[in-house]
Amino acid sequence: MRANLVFGIFCALVTTILVHGQDQSGYISIDCGIPPYDTPEDTMTNINYVSDEAFITTGVNFKVSEEYGYPKNPVLLSTLAEVRAFPQGNRNCYTLKLSQGKDHLYLIRASFMYGNYDGKKALPEFDLYVNVNFWSTVKFKNASDQVTKEILSFAESDTIYVCLVNKGKGTPFISGLELRPVNSSIYGTEFGRNVSLVLYRRWDIGYLNGTGRYQDDRFDRIWSPYSSNISWNSIITSGYIDVFQNGYCPPDEVIKTAAAPENVDDPLELFWTSDDPNVRFYAYLYFAELETLEKNETRKIKILWNGSPVSETSFEPSSKYSTTFSNPRAFTGKDHWISIQKTVDSTLPPILNAIEIFTAQSLDEFSTTIEDIHAIESIKATYKVNKVWSGDPCSPRLFPWEGVGCSDNNNNHQIKSLNLSSSGLLGPIVFAFRNLSLLESLDLSNNDLQQNVPEFLADLKHLKVLNLKGNNLTGFIPKSLMKKLKAGLLTLSADEQNLCNSCQDKKKKKSMVVPIAVAASVIVLVVVLVIIWIILRQRKKGAYSGPLLPSGKRRFTYNEVSSITNNFNKVIGKGGFGIVYLGSLEDGTKIAVKMINDSSLAKPKGTSSSSSSRASNQFQVEAELLLTVHHRNLASFVGYCDDDRSMALIYEYMANGNLQAYLSSENAEDLSWEKRLHIAIDSAQGLEYLHDGCRPAIVHRDVKTANILINDNLEAKIADFGLSKVFPEDDLSHVVTTVMGTPGYVDPEYYRTFVLNEKSDVYSFGVVLLELITGQRAIIKTEEGDNISVIHYVWPFFEARELDGVVDPLLRGDFSQDSAWKFVDVAMSCVRDKGSNRPTMNQIVAELKQCLAAELDREPQSQ
Ligand SMILES: *[C@@H]1O[C@H](CO)[C@@H](O)[C@H](O)[C@H]1NC(C)=O
Ligand SMILES: *[C@@H]1O[C@H](CO)[C@@H](O)[C@H](O)[C@H]1NC(C)=O
Ligand SMILES: *[C@@H]1O[C@H](CO)[C@@H](O)[C@H](O)[C@H]1NC(C)=O
Ligand SMILES: *[C@@H]1O[C@H](CO)[C@@H](O)[C@H](O)[C@H]1NC(C)=O
Ligand SMILES: *[C@@H]1O[C@H](CO)[C@@H](O)[C@H](O)[C@H]1NC(C)=O
Ligand SMILES: *[C@@H]1O[C@H](CO)[C@@H](O)[C@H](O)[C@H]1NC(C)=O
Ligand SMILES: *[C@@H]1O[C@H](CO)[C@@H](O)[C@H](O)[C@H]1NC(C)=O
Ligand SMILES: *[C@@H]1O[C@H](CO)[C@@H](O)[C@H](O)[C@H]1NC(C)=O
Ligand SMILES: *[C@@H]1O[C@H](CO)[C@@H](O)[C@H](O)[C@H]1NC(C)=O
Repeated sequence: MRANLVFGIFCALVTTILVHGQDQSGYISIDCGIPPYDTPEDTMTNINYVSDEAFITTGVNFKVSEEYGYPKNPVLLSTLAEVRAFPQGNRNCYTLKLSQGKDHLYLIRASFMYGNYDGKKALPEFDLYVNVNFWSTVKFKNASDQVTKEILSFAESDTIYVCLVNKGKGTPFISGLELRPVNSSIYGTEFGRNVSLVLYRRWDIGYLNGTGRYQDDRFDRIWSPYSSNISWNSIITSGYIDVFQNGYCPPDEVIKTAAAPENVDDPLELFWTSDDPNVRFYAYLYFAELETLEKNETRKIKILWNGSPVSETSFEPSSKYSTTFSNPRAFTGKDHWISIQKTVDSTLPPILNAIEIFTAQSLDEFSTTIEDIHAIESIKATYKVNKVWSGDPCSPRLFPWEGVGCSDNNNNHQIKSLNLSSSGLLGPIVFAFRNLSLLESLDLSNNDLQQNVPEFLADLKHLKVLNLKGNNLTGFIPKSLMKKLKAGLLTLSADEQNLCNSCQDKKKKKSMVVPIAVAASVIVLVVVLVIIWIILRQRKKGAYSGPLLPSGKRRFTYNEVSSITNNFNKVIGKGGFGIVYLGSLEDGTKIAVKMINDSSLAKPKGTSSSSSSRASNQFQVEAELLLTVHHRNLASFVGYCDDDRSMALIYEYMANGNLQAYLSSENAEDLSWEKRLHIAIDSAQGLEYLHDGCRPAIVHRDVKTANILINDNLEAKIADFGLSKVFPEDDLSHVVTTVMGTPGYVDPEYYRTFVLNEKSDVYSFGVVLLELITGQRAIIKTEEGDNISVIHYVWPFFEARELDGVVDPLLRGDFSQDSAWKFVDVAMSCVRDKGSNRPTMNQIVAELKQCLAAELDREPQSQ
């Protein structure tokens, strides 16, 4: 006894030292709702509290109302005097960074007292979550009711989120939040780490006095005094008990008191009822022998639950160390009755020092994949997104982040939709979006996003909806995205400047709110072509220099022309001006060389050599000028040759030849309605550029299918434009008579006025369109052997509104009727007799795009 006492004093000393130097490492102690500069120390526990500032960005601080706070209520725990409330967002989370890191067990405790902090005298009810899993519902009996929730949770990452979820039953708030590292090898259950343990009761049995919160509890558990409705004897010791051996480390004051029944043979019994019979309970019972036993005395104990033994064996509590005993299988059911009994051969009554009862909470909710979390957190941080975004983006699944939609996979969540419309995003579209690999819908409209629409958005395989409208993005939609758009895989909304450069000068402020897919698809072609054009231009700049780069070669000698055409080896066409040969430049770029034959340069009667050289000079000036004309739908003019022996014009080579040949070749079989529309739009845009984009305007004067070239991407370009200009004005008359215009295409007004203007090109283009529609030539030989114009061929069907008679039978009716009628109407409007009644190229381009839209609308899924 004596020795024990001395030992006891020694231990008390040690304890005192422990108290003052209490190891708070790894503790997070938040006094929610206090100002950031405040760092109160709880005088009773010596725990240092901090404000929530470092742990949460949302919420509003309040003090509890006067009648519940200081000084009226001097015994109020200091953490309860202020609260942080969350009127915004349905889920607000504290982010607790774990200094011990993951793979450790943590005790988390949240405390709440309403205290009418908002003056509304309305008790809220809300839910608590740890990470993505439900923890508990917080309810209050009255405004001064102090609710404490505690959970033992195993951390699978270096961060634990504690979330308050608004269930629509009042604004969530919190008074205090604490996290304590706990020895990971204790509090085991049969489910291992698949469950968290929510504290149900923690009793210091045999309690005599004390605060319930002991500074020598290294896990900072709070033990409540237990009062039985049956009178029990209290046992106390001042001897040393080793509490560390099994890791549970109950505080000295808890383990050193116990209760025993007054009558030796009576059991110690505890009862509780569960509202939900499926709840799984785990009890952890603490034992240590506190009495010095005589030789003939024994204390042997068995534990029963609802009348059945919890384990096979009985045991004798040790007087040297504490033992913790728990049920290997969960207790379930409505009524629970734990009975601690002495065995038959025990001479002493049973004892119990302490007990903790937990309920198991399954960790069955899945979190968002780590890739998506990183990406969305990066987006959140980059743009400082002004939303209540905390905790896991997708889970709990009923309360994902605002604007976030998630996939409901069985083993993880991924972000499927992200709506950041009007969220104040500023700056470029960052790479992080690309990492949201399952994203199907992305709404970034009405922000201040800048710079280019990034190419990587096309890497999002599942992206179906993309809204970029109302931003300050520059440049065009990348080709890769447009491809998806074209394939009907994506619907895109964007500002006009991102979609089409030729729209700029047309004061069309109207936004593209036509069914997005359609509107966007209309633009597809334009943008794809713009991009290709830009790329081509840039590439070309390397291959040969435009007029602004005088170092490059644009003017070739006859010998050079001979060499690049391999001695005029391969004829690829015959134009009005002469024969066209295939050639290639040093870098391998294929080119078409059009030799201008002498007869084309037909000299007026009595021509002189001086006039010839004047023509040559003029040719050179005009050729130089043509070199400045660039448009994606105009065959690129690479250079020219002008020496004594010949004149030649050198163009980019177009692999699919001219449209006339193409339409009458086998290729026409594959020429779908959509492709025809693309060709029509391409050529229309080329002409539009000549008419509107060049100063002075260039009238082509010989628009025909033979002058529309097709490259290997089936993109159409106008060729032979501006050729009339390379001839001197005063020689024009004879040039016109010999060269200008091709039968079947010539504007009837020309025969009256002898003037060719833009509207003459429009007439010829109308014929081109009719050829595209019907698959016929401009002049058709009838069965009777007459030659009739395609216009007259179409006319009766047009009048009778019989589409079948008009449209190329090769299409086999596979086209949108709307689109086809519109196309026919456009073509017919171009070939009106009076030039002033014909539309401008500008209007034609717009109409044709609508035709394409109507066609794409028909089959949004078409590949
Ligand atoms: C508030 O509820 C608690 C818990 O039920 C109770 O102990 C306390 O007496 C109640 N206070 C008032 C003012 O009703
Ligand atoms: C935890 O859950 C996983 C997956 O359901 C299972 O494979 C594992 O056996 C569980 N562990 C325990 C201890 O129940
Ligand atoms: C607690 O009880 C013990 C034993 O009865 C007594 O010595 C001690 O002073 C008490 N402490 C307090 C704070 O009342
Ligand atoms: C003590 O309370 C339990 C239920 O809480 C009850 O079943 C038992 O009869 C009570 N005992 C006495 C002596 O009142
Ligand atoms: C945790 O508990 C085990 C016994 O279950 C013990 O061996 C170990 O030393 C304890 N770890 C710490 C850090 O106290
Ligand atoms: C144990 O022995 C003591 C004397 O040493 C005696 O007083 C007591 O009655 C005995 N107890 C029992 C249960 O036999
Ligand atoms: C995106 O993913 C890549 C590769 O998986 C990774 O290196 C990068 O850090 C991620 N970026 C973001 C913002 O998550
Ligand atoms: C995004 O949210 C805005 C309102 O905040 C809504 O008008 C818009 O339709 C949403 N976008 C999508 C794609 O659901
Ligand atoms: C768009 O961005 C440019 C610079 O990138 C800036 O000068 C301009 O003011 C911005 N416009 C709007 C409407 O924010």
